[in-house]
Amino acid sequence: MATRTPLEIGGMGHSVKRKEDARFLHGKGKYVDDIKLPGMLYMDIVRSPFAYAKIKSINTEKALKVPGVLAVITGETLKGFNLHWMPTLMSDTQMVLPTDTVMYQAQEVAAVIATSRYAAADGVEAVEVEYEPMAAIVTPQRAMEKDAPVLRTDKAGKKDNHIWHWEVGDRQSTNNVFDKADVVVKEDMYIPRIHVASIETCGCIADYNKIENKLTVYMTTQAPHAIRTVFALVAGHVGLTEEKIRIISPDIGGGFGGKVPVYPGYVIAVAASVVIGKPVKWIEDRMENLQADSFARDYYITAEIAADKDGTMKALRIKTIADHGYTDAAANPSKFPAGLFSIVTGSYDFPVAFAEMDAYYTNKPPGGVAYRCSFRVTEAVHAIERIVDSLALKLGMDPAQLRLKNFIKPEQFPYHSALGWEYDSGNYEAALKKAMDIIEYDKLRKEQAEKRKKGELMGIGISSFTEIVGAGNSKHFDILGLKMFDSCEIRVHPTGKAIARFGTKSQGQGHETTYAQIIAEELGLPADHILVEEGDTDTAPYGLGTYASRSTPTAGAAAAKAARKLREKARKIAAHLLEVNEQDLEWDINKFHVKGAPDKAKTIQEIVFAAYTNHPAGMEAGFEAVSYYDPPNLTFPFGSYICVVDIDKGTGEVKIRRFVAVDDCGNIINPMIVEGQIHGGLTMGLAPALYEEMRYDEDGNCVTGSFMDYLLPTAVETPRWETAKTVTPSPHHPIGAKGVGESATVGAPPAIANAVVDALSHLGVTHIDIPITPPKVWSILKEKGVVN
Ligand code: CDP
Repeated sequence: MATRTPLEIGGMGHSVKRKEDARFLHGKGKYVDDIKLPGMLYMDIVRSPFAYAKIKSINTEKALKVPGVLAVITGETLKGFNLHWMPTLMSDTQMVLPTDTVMYQAQEVAAVIATSRYAAADGVEAVEVEYEPMAAIVTPQRAMEKDAPVLRTDKAGKKDNHIWHWEVGDRQSTNNVFDKADVVVKEDMYIPRIHVASIETCGCIADYNKIENKLTVYMTTQAPHAIRTVFALVAGHVGLTEEKIRIISPDIGGGFGGKVPVYPGYVIAVAASVVIGKPVKWIEDRMENLQADSFARDYYITAEIAADKDGTMKALRIKTIADHGYTDAAANPSKFPAGLFSIVTGSYDFPVAFAEMDAYYTNKPPGGVAYRCSFRVTEAVHAIERIVDSLALKLGMDPAQLRLKNFIKPEQFPYHSALGWEYDSGNYEAALKKAMDIIEYDKLRKEQAEKRKKGELMGIGISSFTEIVGAGNSKHFDILGLKMFDSCEIRVHPTGKAIARFGTKSQGQGHETTYAQIIAEELGLPADHILVEEGDTDTAPYGLGTYASRSTPTAGAAAAKAARKLREKARKIAAHLLEVNEQDLEWDINKFHVKGAPDKAKTIQEIVFAAYTNHPAGMEAGFEAVSYYDPPNLTFPFGSYICVVDIDKGTGEVKIRRFVAVDDCGNIINPMIVEGQIHGGLTMGLAPALYEEMRYDEDGNCVTGSFMDYLLPTAVETPRWETAKTVTPSPHHPIGAKGVGESATVGAPPAIANAVVDALSHLGVTHIDIPITPPKVWSILKEKGVVN
C-alpha cells in the first residue's frame, strides 16, 4: 500500500518497529507475576483428581498446621458470602468452589492462602479430601443417551444433559434442494478439543484496601472493563460498587481468547483479599493451566453439499454436536450460542443453507473459548473447506477450479449470505489466483501425477476462507447485555505530544505501535510522539476488550474518529490563527494551509499549542477527544492458502514442503506487524492440523495435561511460511481496514488437512480428522495396503 505520510510521521502503511518491543526484548515487560505488593499473600489451589465424584469430606486441619499457611478456603467458606457459584459469559452457572460434587478433573476444590508460594503449595498437599468417584461422561454422544446420568443436578427440573439447540437458515428449502440434487457429498468430522497454551498462564493479584473500600485487581484479562462491571454486579450488594473496583491488565503473555472468561481462581483470590484485607496473588502453573481452563473447539460436525454435475454448489447442510464440558462458559456474544459459526457458507455463493447445533454437558472442564478466532469461525471454516474438497473429489474436478466456479464474485458485494450475514467486500478469485501463481499450481499438479505413478505420496491442499471479525454492531452484539462497541480517548498536550487510551487490551499484537500510526495518519503528529495506553479501568475509556480480531475494526476505527474530531477543532483554531474562514483551509498531512497558498499554513503542533495559549473566543481550551465506535457491520477478511505436503511412507509423517498464504485484511496499518500476525497464526494453525489435541481417557482423566504430552510445534516443526497479500478495503471502516489477527489460525488447518487427504485420495481416502499424526497416516497406509 502506498503511504501518504513520510516515515518521520509514520502513519498507515509504514512498517515502523514495534514500540513495545524495547521493554520485551530487554526483559522489562511487566506481567502480573512480576508485581509484588507489600504484605502480599499467595494462593494455591487443591484440584480434583477425579472427573466426577462426590466430596465426602474436606479436612483442613493438617494444612493449617503447615508453617506459613494462614487459611484454607472451601466451598462452604464461600457459601457464607454467597460466592460459591458465579455466572458464566453464556448466562449459565459455574461453581467457584464445590460444596458437594466435583464435575471435572482438575476442578478447584479448595484454596490455600499462605505467606509464600511454597508454603501455599505445601498446604495444598496437606488438605485431605475424601471423594466418592462416579462414572464420568466424557463425550456428548454418551451424554445424550437415554440412560446417561443427569450431570447438572444443581439445575432444578433438569432431566437430561442437553444445553441448547440452535439453528440458522432455511431447513425446508435446503432439504428440498438436497432431495433433488445431482450430487451430494457428506463428511463426518471431529474438530478436537485444543488449548490456547499461551506462554503466560492465568493469574491475578487481588488487592483490597479496607480503609478506602477499594479493590484493585491486577489480572491477566483481555477484557478489563467487562470484568469490572461483572465484579460490580456480583459484589455490589456487599459494597463493592463499580467506582470502587479497578482492574489493571498489565502486559499479557498471550491471550488467544483464553483470558476472556472469569475462572474460579480470580474470584477466590478476590474473596480471600476482601476477607483477609491483604493482597493475594494467584498464578496457575503450567499443568493447572493445561488441565483446567482455556479450552477451545470440541465440535462433531456433519457437513453436506448438494451440487449440480458441473460443480455448481446448490445447498449446504450442517449438523453439529458440541461438547461444552461441565458448564456453558463459552466466550461468545450473548445472542450467538454457537458464536459466528454461521459464516460456514464461507466464500461460496450458496443459494440456500441450513445449520443446526446441539450442545451437551460432559464431565470435562468448560470449553468454548474463542481460541484465536471469531467465536467458532475456525470450526466453520474447517467444515466448509474440507467438504468443498470432498465435492471436488467426488466430481473428479480440480479443487481450485471448483472454488473459482463457486466463489462469490467481486460485483456481488455487499453480499447477503444464505445464513444471514452481509459480507462487506471481497475478491476471492484474485486471492486464490495469486496463491496459485506464486506456488506454480499447474506445475505442482503435473509433478504430483508423475510422483503418483512412482508410488510417491504428494498432496496439494487449498483453503479459501472467509472470516468475520470486529464484533460488533450494537444491534446484534452484546456480552451479558454490554454492547460491543469500543473506544479511544486522545489527549494532546500543549507541546504536541499525546497520550491515547483505549478500551481494548493488547496481548502481544502491537497496539502501542499501530494505534499511534492511525492517529499519526489522521493528525500528522509523529507516531513516536503518541503514547498508547490500555488495560487500566481507572484511566481508559470503557470498551469490551481484545479478542476475535476486533481491535482494529472497533477501537482502531474509534482512534480515527477521535482524531478526526480533533482535526475539526484544529481547523477552527487554524482559521483563527490565519485569520481566514474555515472553508478556505485545506488539510495536508500535518498542517492546515490556505487553499491556493501552501505557505500560509499552521502545523498541527502550532495549532495544538494555540489550543492552550491562544484559542478563539467562545471555544473551550484544550485538545482532547473521545470516540465510542459502534461499527455498522463486521469486517470480512479473507485469504487463500495453498499447502504442499510429502508423506513419508515409512513413518506416516507429513512434511510440509511449501505453504503460500495470501491474505486480505483491507488497508494495512503496519505491514510488518500484519506479517507477524500471519506467521504466528499459521503456526497456530499448523498445531491442531498435525500435533495438538487435548485427550481424555474413558474415566475423564486428561492424558495430555503437560507439554510432554500436549504437542506444541516448535521452530523445528514449523515450515517456512511464504506470505503475500491482496488489498480489498472495507467500505464501512473509517480507514478501510479489516481485522487480521486470527485469519491464519482459521485458514491454515484445512489447507494442511486438504493437502494430506489429496496425497491419499487415489487410495479412496476422503477425510482424516485433525490432528493428522504419523500413526494415523501410517495406519491408513497399512489399511490400504501401501505398507506392510
Ligand atoms: O484484536 P486484535 O488486536 O487481536 O486483532 P487485529 O485487530 O486483527 O490486529 C492485530 C494487529 O495487526 C494489531 O496491531 C493491528 O493494528 C494490526 N493490523 C494492521 O496493521 N492492519 C490491519 N488491517 C489489521 C490489523
